[in-house]
Amino acid sequence: MENTTHRPHFTRETDSDNIAWLRFDKADAGTNVLSPEVFAELDGHLKAIAAESPSGLVILSGKANGFVAGADINSFTRIRTERQALELLQTGQAVFNRLAALPFPTVALIHGFCLGGGTELALACRYRVTRDDPGTRLGLPEVKLGIHPGWGGSARMVPLIGGIKAMDLILSGRSVDGRTGKRMGLVDRVVPERHLRVAARKLILDSPPPFRAGMIDRLSNSFVARPVLARIFRWQVAKRVSQQHYPAPYAMIDIWQKHASDQPGMLAAEAQSLAHLVTGLTAQNLVRVFFLQEQLKALGKDKDYRPEYIHVIGAGTMGGDIAAWCALRGFHVTLQDQAPERIAPAIRRAYTLFRRKLKLSNKVTAAMDRLQPDHKGYGVTRADIVIEAIFEDADVKRSLYRDIEPRMKPGALLATNTSSIPLEELSGALQQPGRLVGLHFFTPVALMQLVEVVKGDTTSAEAAAQAMSFTRQIDRLPLPVTSTPGFLVNRILMPYLMEAVELESEGVPPALIDRAATTFGMPMGPVELADTVGLDICLHVAEILARHFNATIPPRLQQLVADGKLGKKSGQGFYTYRKGKAVKPKVSGKNWNVQEITDRMILRMLNETVSCLREQVVDNGDLLDAGMIFGTGFAPFRGGPVHHIEAQGREKLLQQLEALQKLRGDRFSPDAGWNTVFNDQGESSS
Ligand code: NAI
Repeated sequence: MENTTHRPHFTRETDSDNIAWLRFDKADAGTNVLSPEVFAELDGHLKAIAAESPSGLVILSGKANGFVAGADINSFTRIRTERQALELLQTGQAVFNRLAALPFPTVALIHGFCLGGGTELALACRYRVTRDDPGTRLGLPEVKLGIHPGWGGSARMVPLIGGIKAMDLILSGRSVDGRTGKRMGLVDRVVPERHLRVAARKLILDSPPPFRAGMIDRLSNSFVARPVLARIFRWQVAKRVSQQHYPAPYAMIDIWQKHASDQPGMLAAEAQSLAHLVTGLTAQNLVRVFFLQEQLKALGKDKDYRPEYIHVIGAGTMGGDIAAWCALRGFHVTLQDQAPERIAPAIRRAYTLFRRKLKLSNKVTAAMDRLQPDHKGYGVTRADIVIEAIFEDADVKRSLYRDIEPRMKPGALLATNTSSIPLEELSGALQQPGRLVGLHFFTPVALMQLVEVVKGDTTSAEAAAQAMSFTRQIDRLPLPVTSTPGFLVNRILMPYLMEAVELESEGVPPALIDRAATTFGMPMGPVELADTVGLDICLHVAEILARHFNATIPPRLQQLVADGKLGKKSGQGFYTYRKGKAVKPKVSGKNWNVQEITDRMILRMLNETVSCLREQVVDNGDLLDAGMIFGTGFAPFRGGPVHHIEAQGREKLLQQLEALQKLRGDRFSPDAGWNTVFNDQGESSS
């Protein structure tokens, strides 16, 4: 609950031109978000301003990081009923309606993020002025939380810029900078920081006619165009998500199709539909995922650790991409390998990444300057962190450590990207074993947000904390894990992949296996995933895990690797690849028990989940869920594997496992943790 005796969220002054400046600086918060208390205070100001009849109103933010980040997501978790949700939405709408109805010009003066409720507030103003920089972002990202706008975001954006552009933004949840916003008609002026106030003042004094969408954009909202466009929108959304798992974008399309030319109707429908969605399971689980992400971010909050120089050894698939990513995020990076020609491909890939991400040529050049090929390894002596990503061979790694440690700076970290070797096997080669930590990145580095931060028995607490902080500084999510085989993510993923291979060996078509998994909610089917990672790499990890956990590897996988069929990279694996795409014949599930196919794969993953909880590979179930969602894309709308077990009920899943054990063998034997890690309410207690 917010304290009612807080300092105010808004301050207001009127200048010599009789313009009212309303400054939002949320009390006791680093970021401006909209809560019932904020709305109440804003409403009071709007009433007072209306009574004063100024020549105009400018709404701006007192926070350096941005305008308004959106709704206070914490307040979502307090909503219990649809009725409560509807009240909250109608209150917000009434305040924004009051703002939109003011008879004098109003301007939203925007810098930094202006998202969700922030954009809805800005849309209720007559004009929008933004700072000209890529960090200023406008958008309606609600679909990412399983909901859609409800404070008039769609009802105002649709008539302003037309159905096609507005629905593209709403259905994708993507944000745009000021310049793109201006091209779309969302933004009226884009100016450098120092001209922001002048531009706002001028708009009020000149009061030009508000932006009006072009003919085609207006026609897209017409009665005739809507049914056709709605079909296209639904088809596009269906390519990404199913209506059953993610109802919000589909609900939005229905609302638009019905009410696009009737703003009051659209406002009412927005609120009604959102009240229903926000209390549904998908939204609740996606909100949970949002908080899990915040939890991981908070783990790396050691602000005092400020490394500058990074030295990466091994310029292969992983090392090359890790080096590029660090340079992109502003670090000075040297990249070492056995010979210059081994580094060159990594530098070429880095250039492509920089161009894609940074766009402006001066920024690309600066990033290239930060990334130096260094095959002799001079960078070791000045690096604050040395990241090792050479061959997965303990002897080779140890010999490298003996060679470089005497040249490393006294307090420097040594991070290994090993995917399977316990740190204790490597740290023996070091004079200061406490400095060795695991930083296990996932491929592709530029896409996968998670980094497992591995703390071995010998790793010092300080080194582990520094590794977490560094992970945040390169904008990745750190997950602390113990130094056990496969760590967390690969260990849980592997039984699921192996079951998919078993199914394929029994004759189930790969496309059907993949479809079963994606229908469950995985982002990519396991067969295609194995092909994409590379069957040789899968086999290597499976062999290590099989040794430790006494598991068997399906002979079919060994055979494919022996035949040189390594998956996507060799053009042939379980699938054949044409132009980098898997050729998937159409399959029917008619003659197969698709439910059993799904159960077999998912239950093996859940069984390993329980095993990891029992062994405390991570500290608790929340961290496990976060790891699997951000490391593998595990069905976010289910809230993670532990949450899924809790939602389904431990007893039911245990019975299914026991039944499968009888039918299919001991790989389904339930882990001992099913009886120890859950309390009487079926919640994980670790
Ligand atoms: P890679 O084979 O693509 O690259 C390894 C590079 O290290 C080669 O360019 C090689 O010339 C270089 N190298 C070997 N010994 C060296 C030495 N003594 N000094 C300097 N350079 C040396 O291997 P990849 O796939 O990049 O894997 C590297 C590490 O990352 C391994 O420990 C692997 O387990 C781990 N890893 C791999 C993942 C993957 O998907 N490929 C995912 C996560 C971790």
